[in-house]
Amino acid sequence: MYDDLKGKVAVVTGASSGIGAAIIARFVKEGMKVVINYLREKDVADEMVRIIKKNHGDAIAIQGNIDKEKDNIILAKAAIDAFGDLDVWVNNAGHEKPFATHEMPLSEWQSVIDTNLTGVFLGSREALRYFVDKEKKGNIINMSSVHELIPWPTFAHYAASKGGVKLLTQTMAMEYAPMGIRINAIGPGAIDTPINSEKFADPDQRESVESLIPLGYIGTAHEIANVAAWLASAESSYVTGATIFADGGMTLYPSFQAGNG
Ligand code: BGC
Repeated sequence: MYDDLKGKVAVVTGASSGIGAAIIARFVKEGMKVVINYLREKDVADEMVRIIKKNHGDAIAIQGNIDKEKDNIILAKAAIDAFGDLDVWVNNAGHEKPFATHEMPLSEWQSVIDTNLTGVFLGSREALRYFVDKEKKGNIINMSSVHELIPWPTFAHYAASKGGVKLLTQTMAMEYAPMGIRINAIGPGAIDTPINSEKFADPDQRESVESLIPLGYIGTAHEIANVAAWLASAESSYVTGATIFADGGMTLYPSFQAGNG
């Protein structure tokens, strides 16, 4: 637990499932007031709010497509109107769908770049506008991936978007460090979430992914939420512009594990 998080206001995008929902649960445990952004799953988001309130927490659910400038403006305003402040913004929403690069329709490329990269810019911009205006030492956390580092055939759009998130995070971190605003990224590896459910339901595919993880297992959303809570808290006060990989060692070149090479 991080005492300084109590009462702080956090927006989490793509928060009705997977890593986003786990971050919400963890932030609520810390006593934070949360804004659950969702795209389609209204029932799920409303149910999350109901349960949080039943347990004496503070939460609202706001629909919005984070690809859109207007929806990010609405999201930030909703947080500030509801809770009177904004402290932490987590750009979590993202998606992926494989295509051989020579067969990838422009619309698929664009859609992934729009959500995973432009969405991070738009969300960060709203948070930064508030932090700068209020001279607030706010905190931004961007969901990157091991694929900001590891090339990923048939996911050129996804890898390009996450490579972009890495330098966007570092550039913004440098730009706003003089104001005490910290901006970091998390690089999850293979995590059991809806984005991967089909792939990991197939035992062969699951095993082949596990063979790429030195710790030997596919991670949980909870293990990523733990990193988000630490990054949001003052315990990470000297960390900015970093990507914290939470990947069971996937970025350690596991094919060299046996000492080959
Ligand atoms: C992707 C997963 C993938 C993992 C490791 C993540 O960024 O969302 O689908 O399993 O990287 O390759």
